[in-house]
Amino acid sequence: MNAEPTIVLQAVEATKQYKMGNIIVEALRGTNLSVHKGEFVAVMGPSGSGKSTLLHLLGGLDTPSSGEIYLAGQPLSRLNDRKLTLLRLRKVGFIFQFYNLLPTQTALENVALPLLIDGKRMRQQRPWVGSMMERVGLSDRINHRPDQLSGGQQQRVAIARAFITKPEIVLADEPTGNLDSKSGIAVLELLKQACQELTATIVMVTHEARAASFAHRIVFLKDGLIVSSLSNAGEKISMDKITTEINRLENN
Ligand SMILES: Nc1ncnc2c1ncn2[C@@H]1O[C@H](COP(=O)(O)OP(=O)(O)OP(=O)(O)O)[C@@H](O)[C@H]1O
Ligand SMILES: [Mg+2]
Repeated sequence: MNAEPTIVLQAVEATKQYKMGNIIVEALRGTNLSVHKGEFVAVMGPSGSGKSTLLHLLGGLDTPSSGEIYLAGQPLSRLNDRKLTLLRLRKVGFIFQFYNLLPTQTALENVALPLLIDGKRMRQQRPWVGSMMERVGLSDRINHRPDQLSGGQQQRVAIARAFITKPEIVLADEPTGNLDSKSGIAVLELLKQACQELTATIVMVTHEARAASFAHRIVFLKDGLIVSSLSNAGEKISMDKITTEINRLENN
């Protein structure tokens, strides 16, 4: 038996430079990160430290300038566009701060979308999509369009959509950033529960110590590098420890 936990997501010496005319912005400067199956990792750090860039690289939404990303065992630089798109569709769920729902589609249709894009039929998928709506507490809102839902409800639709393909990996960029604290906690509990019940691996960018405290591990980015981390040893990572680390990074 192999006791080593499986690594499902990995950045190896990943760098990202953005060119703006003559100016080069070093968004990531050789980042290494390995995430295990079923792990819930939070990414924190000051504004502009490269958190979203890292998340986009990890999900294959953007490519590193150098280094490699391994997603579900596949080195992304070796995949052509079609293979990368399929891998993303089937293995990765994305959750964004502003939900990114299709405004003309109902909640149910938004949640089903990744399955329909993958050629599956609504008629066959309807029971599974319905059960996911129930899981996020929106059984009575399936025919509402996004503009008829509250922010917290829209984010729950986005969570259901992210998990609908039973992805190995869910990447979330500030999923609670636009929510009040009660809806934020509900969203985090849902994420953690989905992570456990669907054995998904989660990487979540957040500014909030409370949100990060739900994670198994927090990595801290500064100026494009992971500079420190905190792990939960059986209990929640304490908010005090998190805020202390954030303050230390911001003042150094
Ligand atoms: N498309 C782009 N073109 C040029 N520069 C970019 C681009 N995207 C990000 N950057 C720069 O790269 C750096 C890292 O950006 P990134 O969005 O990853 O930061 P972040 O940690 O997510 O910040 P925030 O907490 O404000 O969301 C910043 O200096 C930013 O200005
Ligand atoms: Mg960001």
